Amino acid sequence: MLEYFDPEKDYGTPAQISENLVTLQIDGVSVTVPEGTSVLRAAAEADINIPKLCATDNLEAFGSCRICAVEIEGRRGTPASCTTPAEEGMQVTTQNDKLGRLRRNIMELYISDHPLDCLTCPANGNCELQDVTGEVGLREVRYGFDGENHLDAEKDESNPYFSFDPSKCIVCSRCVRACEEVQGTFALTIDGRGFDSKVAAGQDQPFIDSDCVSCGACVQACPTSTLMEKSVIDKGQPEHSVVTTCAYCGVGCQFKAEMKGSEVIRMVPYKDGQANHGHSCVKGRFAFGYATHSDRITKPMIRDSIDQPWQEVSWEEALSFTATKLRGIQDKYGRESIGGITSSRCTNEETYLVQKLIRAAFGNNNTDTCARVCHSPTGYGLKTTLGESAGTQTFDSVMHADAVMVIGANPTDAHPVFGSLLKKRLRQGAKLIVADPRRIDLVKSPHVETQHHLKLRPGSNVAFINAMAHVIITEGLEDTAFITERCEDNAYQAWRSFISEERHSPENTESVTGIPADELRGAARIYATAKNAAIYYGLGVTEHSQGSSMVMGIANLALATGNIGREGVGVNPLRGQNNVQGSCDMGSFPHELPGYQHVADDEVRARFEAVWGVTLDNEPGLRIPNMFDAALDGTYKGLYCQGEDIAQSDPNTNHVQAALRSLECLVVQDIFLNETAKFAHVFLPGSSFLEKDGTFTNAERRINRVRKVMPPLAGKQDWEVTIELSKALGYEMNYSHPSEIMDEIASLTPTFTSVNYDRLEEMGSIQWPCNDDAPDGTPIMHLESFPIGKGHFAITEYVATEERSTRKYPLLLTTGRILSQYNVGAQTRRTENQAWHDEDVLELHPQDAEDRGINDGDWVGIASRAGETVMRAKVSDRMQPGVVYTTFHHPGSGANVVTTDNSDWATNCPEYKVTAVQAIKVNEPSGWQQRYHEFNDQQLSFLKEGRKKKTGMRG
Ligand code: SF4
Ligand code: SF4
Ligand code: SF4
Ligand code: FES
Repeated sequence: MLEYFDPEKDYGTPAQISENLVTLQIDGVSVTVPEGTSVLRAAAEADINIPKLCATDNLEAFGSCRICAVEIEGRRGTPASCTTPAEEGMQVTTQNDKLGRLRRNIMELYISDHPLDCLTCPANGNCELQDVTGEVGLREVRYGFDGENHLDAEKDESNPYFSFDPSKCIVCSRCVRACEEVQGTFALTIDGRGFDSKVAAGQDQPFIDSDCVSCGACVQACPTSTLMEKSVIDKGQPEHSVVTTCAYCGVGCQFKAEMKGSEVIRMVPYKDGQANHGHSCVKGRFAFGYATHSDRITKPMIRDSIDQPWQEVSWEEALSFTATKLRGIQDKYGRESIGGITSSRCTNEETYLVQKLIRAAFGNNNTDTCARVCHSPTGYGLKTTLGESAGTQTFDSVMHADAVMVIGANPTDAHPVFGSLLKKRLRQGAKLIVADPRRIDLVKSPHVETQHHLKLRPGSNVAFINAMAHVIITEGLEDTAFITERCEDNAYQAWRSFISEERHSPENTESVTGIPADELRGAARIYATAKNAAIYYGLGVTEHSQGSSMVMGIANLALATGNIGREGVGVNPLRGQNNVQGSCDMGSFPHELPGYQHVADDEVRARFEAVWGVTLDNEPGLRIPNMFDAALDGTYKGLYCQGEDIAQSDPNTNHVQAALRSLECLVVQDIFLNETAKFAHVFLPGSSFLEKDGTFTNAERRINRVRKVMPPLAGKQDWEVTIELSKALGYEMNYSHPSEIMDEIASLTPTFTSVNYDRLEEMGSIQWPCNDDAPDGTPIMHLESFPIGKGHFAITEYVATEERSTRKYPLLLTTGRILSQYNVGAQTRRTENQAWHDEDVLELHPQDAEDRGINDGDWVGIASRAGETVMRAKVSDRMQPGVVYTTFHHPGSGANVVTTDNSDWATNCPEYKVTAVQAIKVNEPSGWQQRYHEFNDQQLSFLKEGRKKKTGMRG
C-alpha cells in the first residue's frame, strides 16, 4: 500500500478508495492496492515506471495512446495498463523486447508529425513527449516528415496567459478531459476524426471568444508545449519552487510558485493543496503580475495635508511622524480618538499584531476589519445557533452531498475551485437548488441543471428561509431524532410554534419573496428528504439589514433536518477574501479578542494582559461605520488602515469620503496608492503575499502556510512594520519570525492551542479547532455536540428592509463579483485579467431596458437616495424584471456611491444587496464621477511630484 504520497509524482490514474485490497505481481514485485486501482497506478506506487502519454493522475484513464501497454499472464495481447484494473494474483510484465518495439512504433508515429525543434521549444526540459521518446529509446523516424502533417497549423495567441500551438498537439485529449472533469466547463472538444482530429475551443473559435474561463487546467494537463504559459515561453523554464497559498479568494488554493531567482515564472496549483487538489482559477494561476507592477509603492511617504504632494521619507521618519501624529491626537482628543482597521488579505499573524497594536499601544478597542462589510453576520448567526463562528465542513465534503442549496452565492465566479468541485458532484447526480435573484451560471451549465432556481426578490431572504422551514415543519419532514438528541428543547418548541404560523407559508410569503409557492415547496422537500443536504451561502445572505437573521434561519433549517455533524451536510459560508475567516479569528472585531473571546470577560482579559503586559479596556470599541460617524462628529481623528480600501469598498462613498477628509491622520499601509490612500497623510508600503511568511485561514477553517518567495520590495514584511510602529508608539513587541507570533496566538486562543509552524509543515494545513481535544484539527464540526452544548433554534422574524422600490426609485440594485476581477480590483486591474472585464456594467432585464429606451452599451445614470453614478448598460435575461445588478471592481464606476448606509441589525454589515434605484439613459458621467476624476488626477500628480522630489528630478 502507498505509504507516502509524492505530490511531485504523476501516478497515472486517480487514487481509488476501497476497503478491499488486491495484491498483484508487477515485474516480480508484489504490490497491494485498493480494488479498482489501475495497473499503471499500482506500478507507479511501487516505483515501477510504465511510460504513458494520455494518462495523468487527476483524470480518468482514457486509453488512447497505448504507450502504457503491458503483458499480463493469461491474457491475450498487450492491454493498456491505465485502463486495466489491478486484480488479485495478476502477473504483469512492463518491459520486454516486444513491448519496447510496440512503444517505439507508437512514438515513431507521433514524432513523424511533430516539429523537431526540441532545443528551442519552450517545453524543453519539461516535456512528457520528449521524456517518453527517450524512455522508449526511439532512434529513427522511418516515415520522414514530408507527408501530410500538422506542422503548419496556426497558433492561437488570443488568451492573454497561454498560447495554443496545434502543430505540437498529439491529440491525447488530456486538455479536453481536464476541462470537463476537473474544471467542468466543457469548452474543448476533439473535432474531426483520425488524422484530421484536432483540439477545438468552443465552436472552433479563438480561446478568448470561447466559453473558456482560463482556469489553466488544460495547460497543466498538456504533456507537450501545445498549451503553454506565455510567461514560460518568454522567460524559460523555472529553476526552483516554493509552496504557498493564493491571496485571492477564501478557497485557499495552494500553489507551487515556480521561480527563476526571485521572479515568479508561473504558479502551478499544488497537488497536495488540501483545498484545491491541484486545481485553480484564472486569478490564482495567472493573475500574479500585479505583485511587481510599476504602480507598486516601495518607499514610505508622508504629508501634512491631503492637498499637498507626497514626500518620500525613510522608514524611521515615516514611523516617527506617524507616532507623533497619533499620540498628539490622543493628547488633544482623548484615548478613544484613534483606531485601526485590519485586513482580510493580510496574514493571521499580521492581523493579530494590528489588533494587538490597537488594544495595547493605542489603549482602546477601536479595531475592526473589512470582514465587517462581508461576513460579520456569519460570525454572529452561527455563534448564536451552533456555538462557533465558522462554517462546518471541508470543501471535499460536498462530494458526499445528495442535495445542495446555494443561497446568495455565485461559486463559479467568486469561489471558482469550489465551484468546479460542486459541479463535479452535481454531474454525479446530486440535486441543486439555487436561491438568487439573478440567473447565475450554476443554474444552467454543461451537464448541470438546477432542480429549482428560486428567483427571490432582493431583501426577502428571511421570508424565504422561514417559508422553507414552515414547509419542513408543517409537512412533518423534520428530523425528530436529531432535534431531540442534539437541540435545546425549549428553544425548539418556541421556534416550532413560531415557524408553523400560517403567515410563514410559501403561499402567504409568495407576494414578498416572488417565489411561486409550489417551487418553494418542491425545493424544501428536496432539501429535507435528501440523505445528505448541504447549504452553501455567500454575501447575498449576509449583506442585508437582516443578514444575521438569515444566517440563523439557515442554521435553523440545517438543525431541523439533522443536516449537521457529518460529511455531505452542514452550513457553509463561502468567505470572500483569502483571510476573512482568519481576520475574524484573530480578534479584529472591537468586542472580541482573538478566538472570539469577549473583551468584557475579566478572566479572558487577564490572560491577555499577563502576556501583553498592559491593562486592556473592557468596553467594546468602534465598528467601522461608527468610526466614520465619529470622524464626522469630530471625536475620531486618527486611523491606521492596513490593506483595506474603505473608500472604494464601503457603502455610501460620499459619506465615507467625507469621514476620511475629516481625519487629522490617516495612515494607509498597502501595496498601491489605493482609493483610501488618496485621503491619507502617511503611506506605509505593504508587502504582497509573495513577499512574506505567515498563514491564511480559508473558508473551511483551514490554516494554510504562506511562504516568502521573493524579498519584500519595500524591504519589510507587513508584520515587521507593525512591530516598528508599535515601538515608535512606546509599546515593544518582540518577534523575529511569524512562527513566534503564531505561538503567542496559540497560547491565548483555545481553538488554536496545538497549532504551530512545525505541525503545519508536517500536516500541510490544519483546520481549527486544533487543541488537546482535536490534536489533528477538526475537518467536520459538531460531530457529537455543539460548543454551546445543544443546537439553538433562533426566532427569525422577517422585517422588511426600509430600502424599498418606490415611484422615484422603482428598481432594486444588487451587487456581486465576477470571475476575472477580485474585490476592489486593486490587484486584478493591474493584470491581464482586464481582458475579460475592464469596466463595471449595469445588468438589467430586457423589459426594464425597453421601458427606458436603453440599449446594450448605452450609458445609464443610476440614482439612489445616497448618490448617482453612470455605467454602461448590459441588457440581460439573467435578470428578473425590476432588479438590476452590478459589480464594484472599478473605482471610477462608483457602485458604492449609490449603495446606502443601511446595515444588519446585529453587526452593521452593510446592506449592499438592496438599493432602490432609478436608471435612465444619459450622455455624460455623473457629478460624482467628474469630481472623482479630478481628485484622482490631483492625487496621482501629488504622488508623481513626491517621487520626483526624492530622486532629484524636479525641474
Ligand atoms: S483554461 Fe480551463 S476552461 Fe479554458 S479550455 Fe482550459 S481547462 Fe477549459
Ligand atoms: S493540446 Fe496538449 S493535452 Fe490537448 S490534445 Fe494536444 S497534446 Fe494533448
Ligand atoms: S482565487 Fe480562489 S479559487 Fe482562484 S486560485 Fe485563488 S484561492 Fe483558488
Ligand atoms: S497512457 Fe495508457 S493508453 Fe495512453
